[in-house]
Amino acid sequence: MFDLLVKGGTLPDGRSADIAIKGDRIIAVGSLDAPATRVIDATGDLVSPPFVDPHFHMDAVLSYGLPRVNASGTLLEGIGLWGELREIATAEEMVDRAIRYCDWAVSMGLLAIRTHVDTTPDHLSGVEAMLEVKRRVAPYLDLQIVAFPQDGLYRTATGRHNVIRALDMGVDVVGGIPHFERTMEEGAESLRDLARMAAERGLMWDVHCDETDDPLSRHVETMAREVTRHGLGGRAAGSHLTSMHSMDNYYVSKLLPLIAESGMTAIPNPLINITLQGRHDTYPKRRGLTRVKEMQALGITVGWGQDCVLDPWYSLGTADMLDVAFMGLHVAQMTHPAEMARCFTMVTDCNAEIMGLKGYGLKPGDQASLVILDAGTPTEAVRLRPDRMCVISKGKVVSEKVRNDSSLSLPGRPAHVRRRHAVN
Ligand code: FE2
Repeated sequence: MFDLLVKGGTLPDGRSADIAIKGDRIIAVGSLDAPATRVIDATGDLVSPPFVDPHFHMDAVLSYGLPRVNASGTLLEGIGLWGELREIATAEEMVDRAIRYCDWAVSMGLLAIRTHVDTTPDHLSGVEAMLEVKRRVAPYLDLQIVAFPQDGLYRTATGRHNVIRALDMGVDVVGGIPHFERTMEEGAESLRDLARMAAERGLMWDVHCDETDDPLSRHVETMAREVTRHGLGGRAAGSHLTSMHSMDNYYVSKLLPLIAESGMTAIPNPLINITLQGRHDTYPKRRGLTRVKEMQALGITVGWGQDCVLDPWYSLGTADMLDVAFMGLHVAQMTHPAEMARCFTMVTDCNAEIMGLKGYGLKPGDQASLVILDAGTPTEAVRLRPDRMCVISKGKVVSEKVRNDSSLSLPGRPAHVRRRHAVN
């Protein structure tokens, strides 16, 4: 007797299969007829492992307009606003906003998030708040926390000390922001320092690296070297890497093999990169997204991150990783059918690999977490960003939607009839 049986869905690889769940595990996948406590009809729907967001700032989420909006729209004004907000926001307010966001994320089938928490303030109330959020959402959402020295590891008197304090408090991942240190050399030294920290503690490492339009911001080169030196491949990620957009092509031809050799992964954040980068340009304006297809061609794992929702840096956001994939597809010009399908994989499997999630997938023995989408294929899901009909986390239904046939009359909304006449 199964606890749950998801019948008739289409898996991302195109197979049609039933999925049987007992407890918090998938126990069988195939053509299944055994009785179950509950049967969910997924006929005609896409059944996928849950969405994963490997780059987010949950200590700032849903704070748009506090203490005021970012008038220039720049990264630097956003950092300045955040510097004010983090001193007046209480831990309770941060917890409340984060929990509300997690509820929203769950309804969108987003069940694992890596969040950077600012360790700059000596009070570390953001760290305490995020650890509390992680504890509270653990039954249904996997939260990884990165110790992130927003103002630089060496640029404040206690920057380095506070990263160590945060790690001692139980934060999961070592962060970094080398392009924000005072000099290129101090940026490079911060990477050597942080890589040692991650290696000695056996932790993962995720660096806001070269989030700038400066083509000579080449910290990713040093990061790759340190990843290779300490054997951190597979557990180190370079976030943003936007300077690579503007780098000299000859230099990039040397750089990319070094990144590939190191085994580090990459997390561009297309919604944010497209809005924050190029702000100092007149025309043509650079678009700031790193070289996604070129990295993938060398076997480097690249995911898509969301970064921000309604905060000092970004005035929009939907908690929908399909919105992120949709933007990434456009900015990276990933319009070949295989590339469009890959954009879905980037917000599922690739992001799960980047975060090192265990038991992620739809095989027997995997964690029973999945999302049922009102779409026929992964590419169609990216195109339509359709309703999440049902979300299952760790064997429990955590979100459900009643299918609404009136959507047929709403232009642009997904509907079964429209979908069945779709080309993909
Ligand atoms: Fe970020």
